[in-house]
Amino acid sequence: MSDTPGLPAPPPAGTSALPAGTYDGDTVFVTGGGTGLGKAIALEFARLGASIVVASRDPEHLAAGRAAIEAVGAEVDVVECDIRDADAVAAAFEAAEDRFGLPRVLVNNAAANFPSPAEDLSPNAWRTVVDITLNGTFLVGREFARRHLAIGSPASIVNVGASYAWTGGPGFAHSAAAKAGVKNLVETLAVEWGPYGIQVNGLVPGLFPHEDMTDDIRGSLDRIHDKDPLQPAMRVGERQELGWAATFLASPYARFISGHTLVVDGANWQRRTLTNPPVTTVRDQLGRAAFLLED
Ligand code: HXC
Repeated sequence: MSDTPGLPAPPPAGTSALPAGTYDGDTVFVTGGGTGLGKAIALEFARLGASIVVASRDPEHLAAGRAAIEAVGAEVDVVECDIRDADAVAAAFEAAEDRFGLPRVLVNNAAANFPSPAEDLSPNAWRTVVDITLNGTFLVGREFARRHLAIGSPASIVNVGASYAWTGGPGFAHSAAAKAGVKNLVETLAVEWGPYGIQVNGLVPGLFPHEDMTDDIRGSLDRIHDKDPLQPAMRVGERQELGWAATFLASPYARFISGHTLVVDGANWQRRTLTNPPVTTVRDQLGRAAFLLED
């Protein structure tokens, strides 16, 4: 085991690089904001004065999001919404507007994912992940932008991505392809909507362990690449570090940054070794038996 120190620990949660009240008077709409990294991002906006709208299809997640935001003393509303359904998305924005006015910031965080060898994915499993992650991200961004375009108000979108958008993601063919689409959308929409005052950026988390990780993903990380010494930073991320990046990207101090996808992972995705490690198939990594065609 190495005794190199790695990247220093960040300041504690609850502190911020941005001035207190940076988001006073703003509303931030966060899809999937009731759990995990979406909740962590929502919390940082809330700490800086934003009112938060959490959108999720799961009532338990909505309740968790509400409790977390209330605990830091910010205003919060929750809306049940399946982002694959354009009518439900419109209704969610309608509800958000009724409560707080049109949100100035959208965090497109909700996504679907589970590890699987590509050959084991059913057509519906593929469609479901692409539908939530790519189509849902577009539908929410479209609804948000149309409402701003209609009244000529400036706005900011942060789409949560994944580094396998650049590299491909063995074991995550569906999610990697969808996240590549999400990254591409950032670049397209930043240009299309910039003239109307809408900034569009991407934010890619590295490894930020949290209590809401699915068993599938946690199990895969435990087997493959969890643990501090396996990161170039010699540590994993602390959730507030992702929230700080999101709140910077949508803040007045980042207005000239648009069409950019920021990776917050301590350089983990750029990691290379001097000699290649042996290839292990995705089936072996996931502990699956040899592929057999079923009758
Ligand atoms: C194989 C699966 C599966 C699994 C669902 N399916 N889970 N196949 N392994 N673990 C298949 C189903 O069998 C079905 O296909 C199809 O997918 C749709 O399943 P439903 O349950 O009907 O869909 P739905 O409830 O709409 O969505 C299920 C879900 C979603 C996609 C699993 O609940 C989800 O994504 N939950 C996790 C959310 C999450 O943690 N997101 C953050 C990911 S982090 P059939 O053919 O049977 O009908 C991330 C960053 C990368 O993305 C991290 C890399 C390490």
